[in-house]
Amino acid sequence: MTNETIEQTITFVKKALKGAEGGHDWFHIQRVFQNAQSIAKTENVNLLIVSLSALLHDIADAKFHNGDESIGPRMASEFLASIKVEQQVIDHVVQIIENISFKSSLRDENNMRKPFNSLELQVVQDADRLDAIGAIGIARAFNYGGFKNRELYNPEISPNLNMSKEEYKKSTAPTINHFYEKLLLLKGKMNTDTGKNIAESRHQYMLDFLIQFDKEWNGL
Ligand code: ADP
Ligand code: NI
Repeated sequence: MTNETIEQTITFVKKALKGAEGGHDWFHIQRVFQNAQSIAKTENVNLLIVSLSALLHDIADAKFHNGDESIGPRMASEFLASIKVEQQVIDHVVQIIENISFKSSLRDENNMRKPFNSLELQVVQDADRLDAIGAIGIARAFNYGGFKNRELYNPEISPNLNMSKEEYKKSTAPTINHFYEKLLLLKGKMNTDTGKNIAESRHQYMLDFLIQFDKEWNGL
């Protein structure tokens, strides 16, 4: 039953993400799923909830749906109900999808939702964050920047280190700024020990990249 549920979910996600932006496509989901399995080995979690949340966490990301944050959780919930997953599991997966993203952790005057936390959320959040840093993180950031036609870098536009959720969503800043505004902060936000360990070397790789980028920018 469980394996079949996972297989059906994989089929659904692959289909839903056909044509997605390169950093938020099926392969991102596959990497997050894999990271989540590795992290879950050392945590006492419900593996079905972790797996379904990893697979469904970007099923309809608000930034690709005119900012609508309700589509993803709704699609996930309807799909899981259609394959007869228990309501209690569905509710937990939906909570994880609503709370996993970096922007959910930013100041938000419009948010009336109660904060949610669980060990399963922490594992999937770490798995997603690991895919936002390191070599893959660099590739994904520039792909997203290109998708949005952002500048690579502009020395006249400084990073904004204290953005509210609204400012973060509206930002059109150069991609290098995203490293200072988000990517370099992720190492310090990891929840699990396994996540922290893996984040170390990926973080260092981004620092090295930024030093080299700066050198080349200045013609050295
Ligand atoms: P959020 O939208 O909460 O930042 P996501 O997990 O969907 O979270 O972001 C995933 C990835 O998309 C980021 O790690 C990054 O690679 C890319 N991305 C999102 N916003 C930007 C941005 N402003 N500039 C460059 N890349 C971005
Ligand atoms: Ni993701």
